[in-house]
Amino acid sequence: MRAMSTFPIRVFGDPVLKQQTRLVEDIDGTFAKVVDTMFTTMYDAPGVGLAAPQVGVQQRFFVYDIDDEPRVLINPQIVATEGEWTYEEGCLSIPGLNFAIVRPKVITVQAVDIDGNEVVVVGDELLGRVFLHEIDHLDGVLMFDRLDDVARKAALREWRRLETEGGAQRDPSHAL
Ligand code: NI
Repeated sequence: MRAMSTFPIRVFGDPVLKQQTRLVEDIDGTFAKVVDTMFTTMYDAPGVGLAAPQVGVQQRFFVYDIDDEPRVLINPQIVATEGEWTYEEGCLSIPGLNFAIVRPKVITVQAVDIDGNEVVVVGDELLGRVFLHEIDHLDGVLMFDRLDDVARKAALREWRRLETEGGAQRDPSHAL
């Protein structure tokens, strides 16, 4: 059996992670293949969410799988948020670092699915966090940008230390 292909995951410092994405216009066979490879890449990492820029694709979509429900959301828009929730976030593009970040708890997203149908999905806690984290990626926003100045400076120092030591360990639990 041939091994499934994966994309290399872009890591902090790669300019593609700081760029805005374009709306997806064609949900065709080529697009579906990219989505499949993104799922393989996400499972292989392993992670529970992966946004297109993380594999160098500057388009507005992300994949995720929580509780064995793989899904892709295309051209997502946040239409409502509620509450507040603190969660120790990890990012596949910032391997080795986790940060407790406060964000809304319940997130309602309007998007298009792989069949081109408009969908509205509601995510609470971890699922809501996946939505916010991945939509940040689509806007070129990373976890560092969600920290206050003092925390960001400390985080970037820690990142440089990990890079110098060359041994950034991925936390495989719930990286996004
Ligand atoms: Ni991420």
